Amino acid sequence: MDSNEIRSRFLKFFEKRGHKIIPSSSLIPGDPTVLFTTAGMQQFKPYYTRPQDTDKDFGSRNITTVQKCIRTVDIDEVGDATHLTFFEMLGNFSFGGYGRREAITYAYDFIVKELGLEISYVTFYKGEGVVPRDEESKNIWSILGVKDIREDGKDVFWGPTGDSGPCGPTTEIYCKNADGQDVEIWNIVFNEYFCDGSREKLDKNEAKLKKLDVLGIDTGMGLERLVATVQKKKNVYETDLFKKPKDVLDSFVLPFLSGLDNDIEYIRSSRIIFDHLRSVLMMVSDGIIPSNKDKGYVLRRLIRRVVVYIQKYYKKNPSDVVFPLIGFFVYFYNNIYPEVGNKTRQHIILEEIQKFLETLSKGLKEFEKGIDPFILFSTYGFPIELTLELAKEKGKKINLEDFNKKMTEHQKLSRTSSAGMFKGGLAGTGEMETKYHTATHLLLASLRNVLKADIVQKGSNITAERMRFDFNWPEKVSVEKLKEIEDLVNVKIAEAIPVEMKEMPKEEAKKVVTTLSFDLSKYGDVVKVYKIGDFSAEFCGGPHVKNTKELGVFKIQKEEAVAQGIRRIKAVLI
Ligand code: ALA
Repeated sequence: MDSNEIRSRFLKFFEKRGHKIIPSSSLIPGDPTVLFTTAGMQQFKPYYTRPQDTDKDFGSRNITTVQKCIRTVDIDEVGDATHLTFFEMLGNFSFGGYGRREAITYAYDFIVKELGLEISYVTFYKGEGVVPRDEESKNIWSILGVKDIREDGKDVFWGPTGDSGPCGPTTEIYCKNADGQDVEIWNIVFNEYFCDGSREKLDKNEAKLKKLDVLGIDTGMGLERLVATVQKKKNVYETDLFKKPKDVLDSFVLPFLSGLDNDIEYIRSSRIIFDHLRSVLMMVSDGIIPSNKDKGYVLRRLIRRVVVYIQKYYKKNPSDVVFPLIGFFVYFYNNIYPEVGNKTRQHIILEEIQKFLETLSKGLKEFEKGIDPFILFSTYGFPIELTLELAKEKGKKINLEDFNKKMTEHQKLSRTSSAGMFKGGLAGTGEMETKYHTATHLLLASLRNVLKADIVQKGSNITAERMRFDFNWPEKVSVEKLKEIEDLVNVKIAEAIPVEMKEMPKEEAKKVVTTLSFDLSKYGDVVKVYKIGDFSAEFCGGPHVKNTKELGVFKIQKEEAVAQGIRRIKAVLI
């Protein structure tokens, strides 16, 4: 059974049982406190507290999806049999539509009857604090005839994601892989609580759980692991998901002839290349652009690691190796995620590789000369991980303490200069400038809303006559979209929303702010947050108008590129 069949069998199985099939959401989550979409439930997070809204928004209380996910916590594990940075999560969700008995029985039927797998064991939550021991799940498994039922603690309590959200006890299904090892296949979460803090806080007893009105179901099963189990492969790279890329990559070096076919490092490197490139393609396809922070930085690091590993084993221009591999992934995923077909975005990968190669060749020479790792970082753009990897390979020692010290100094300096830049963006603060300043907040929130992406402010320049606003976006914004953005700003002006300023501790502010355009470390412990209703909340020094109605009419005059991946909007208030 190939991966396509498993994906569609899953969706059909749940569709037959009254679930509505909903497409995967973007890898950029709607929740600004979460960096990437890491689970199927992410796009449904608000519905666990407002279950009745699912009727209106999806026409169903029960939903099934295959969700694109990125998890970077295990990045150092990539290259082993099971860890990936990008993966697809098969899931079924219910918002008061059904309970434990149905959720567990569906999972059992799909694994045992539909796929013909044997369950090795299952787990259930032993209870702690206000959360009772999950006897009900234990009994359901036992009635279904599962013999090995194990109780577990914190590992089988899931969530919340981000700074607050639904969470609850889980029951997990384990099956044996081709090596005879038990692998976690499916996680069935019973969202019975709302946690008012992050998971970290919950674990430290600094957050509280409140019982939700209805029981929510959230399940997640990693497609790649499932495919490996069904196809009886020892690792995900031997499944049909990676078979073709493996052939392509091997053809560049003919591992059998070069004696590399059993070389653990070669195997690990090629897996890292497959994994990272697939993630990179999915990330750019959802509008993420390489940069020096947040998602853009993760993307940049993944691309750079691919280049380094290609150079290690393949005497080819990395772009020549990347090109056919990306081509394969596009061909393979086009039917499922049509956004991967966007050529402009694919091009971003090749451009980033080219840029990196230029700095790399200069930097490598310097590395050979034994230059300071900090200079490699600041002048040649070498991430410290890369320097460490090269050093390991060449048996050199790196003084990490010294690097970190210089890095801290560097951050202090750039804080001062970016604070200056920020101020420079607001040359004067007359009445018109103040209005334009508020307009930039409305524009940023509208861009995020209309383009549905992780847009941040990359610069702004305001005079009494006009505003300029720069933001990250890979391509020309269409006339239709510009109109939508402009209209949304004008709607918010017409709504006459009060602009409120609150001073609060930085940590608290992070929870309410919807966009993080600036490096927070340059702010003091108490920061100013400007809120415009529920529409926008940003860290900002001000000044701003008291009410959006003071702005008049907002008009976009021009949209253009200013640098790679950065667009500029010129607008006026009339
Ligand atoms: N949300 C659950 C998980 O990610 C299903 O494991």
